[in-house]
Amino acid sequence: MKQMRIKGRNILKGTIKISGAKNSAVALIPASILSDDIVTIDNVPNISDISALNEILEFLGAKVKLENGLMTIDTKSIQNKNIPKEISNKLRASYYFMSALLGKYKHVEMYFPGGCKIGARPIDQTLKGFETLGAKVKEENNKFTIDAEELIGGHVYLDMPSVGATINTMLVATKAKGLTIIENAAKEPEIVNVATFLNNMGAKITGAGTSEIRIMGVEKLKGCFTEVIPDRIETGTYVIAGALLGENLKIENIIPEHIESLTLKLTEMGVDMDIQNNYLIINRCEKLKPVNLKTLCYPGFPTDLQQPVTVLLTQCDGISVLEETIYENRFQNIPYLNEMGANIDIIGKKIKVNGPTKLYGAKVVATDLRAGACLILAALIAKGETIVTDIEHVLRGYENIIEKLTNVGAEISLEEI
Ligand code: EPU
Repeated sequence: MKQMRIKGRNILKGTIKISGAKNSAVALIPASILSDDIVTIDNVPNISDISALNEILEFLGAKVKLENGLMTIDTKSIQNKNIPKEISNKLRASYYFMSALLGKYKHVEMYFPGGCKIGARPIDQTLKGFETLGAKVKEENNKFTIDAEELIGGHVYLDMPSVGATINTMLVATKAKGLTIIENAAKEPEIVNVATFLNNMGAKITGAGTSEIRIMGVEKLKGCFTEVIPDRIETGTYVIAGALLGENLKIENIIPEHIESLTLKLTEMGVDMDIQNNYLIINRCEKLKPVNLKTLCYPGFPTDLQQPVTVLLTQCDGISVLEETIYENRFQNIPYLNEMGANIDIIGKKIKVNGPTKLYGAKVVATDLRAGACLILAALIAKGETIVTDIEHVLRGYENIIEKLTNVGAEISLEEI
């Protein structure tokens, strides 16, 4: 078990370089097995979710090399084997192997994926995509056996623009015969990253990034090179840190368009930022205006920044209301923020944040990845020392978080307990 110890109230100045996006990399890696050759992916973040996917790749027989973010995957000796529950359970993205193996071998056996416990997170839309393309799905005790005599393109209408279902359907459709159309597709930048990767391998995908994606199936996919886009959620987390404590804090290797829903809200609050092509410079703001926020699919305000931004709302001068529309259980950070001195009421799907409040160090628990990020931000502005336990959740998604924050002036350390 690991915990983080943080001494609060240090000013943050210097530069933070953003890593490759977790939610892109975790899809690109399973997608690589659709290729019949060697693929190279650059800017892969060094986080534990990637180690779990590497474990799956190696279990399947792929040869994997990862050095300084450059990952080479040789899939020539891969075999279609049943991925053990203990490995697939480690993360949500393990189910991208479900679609990649189904696309490649027309048969897959796999357990329900893992992931942060932030809501029900069913996979019905993914299974609907598989079935529309001709697969038969059997489920017993959370184990899925999926077979297709032939995969044939079809018209998939998603009930909600699910990121996972869009990527899973895209992966299978790439190897299906004929045209697949995904309607009400998710538009997240990670989907564009995956589609570009598949196209580099020889797939024929158009419309990624819009709500209608068209995929003309191909028989073979070749090797290729691709790069993981910068992590917009990591960017947003450090931008929020900058709004709280920054003194000309530079955040570089970013795509500003991907975090516009956040930066526009910050401007509404009165935060001072200089946004350039691939970096921004941010300063802390003494008097923040309260705002209302609602999480939505991209390009709306991302649910993954909902917990981190709550810390900023505790510093606004007045009442802010935030509504979470994607997950039912993403307020597990709130009792801990209140223990630290915040004044937040949970009212169904909404929270009412009464600001401004001073925060004080406490012993708190990272119940999930973004709750952990939220508590780290709270600790950075709190008076005294905070201990965040269960920090493994955070290490799943934030590369070198200790070094990145220490380098800009934070006092933060990782302890084994
Ligand atoms: N949903 C269904 N049925 C489905 C699929 C989704 O009802 O078959 C519902 C979910 O329960 C949820 C909503 O649709 O209420 C959105 O789910 P989506 O499928 O879009 O989420 P996901 O693919 O499971 C990815 C990210 C999450 C991020 C969401 C939304 C990965 C590995 N995970 O999850 O990231 O919150 O999209 O943007 O890409 C995180 O990084 O902390 C994280 C949780």
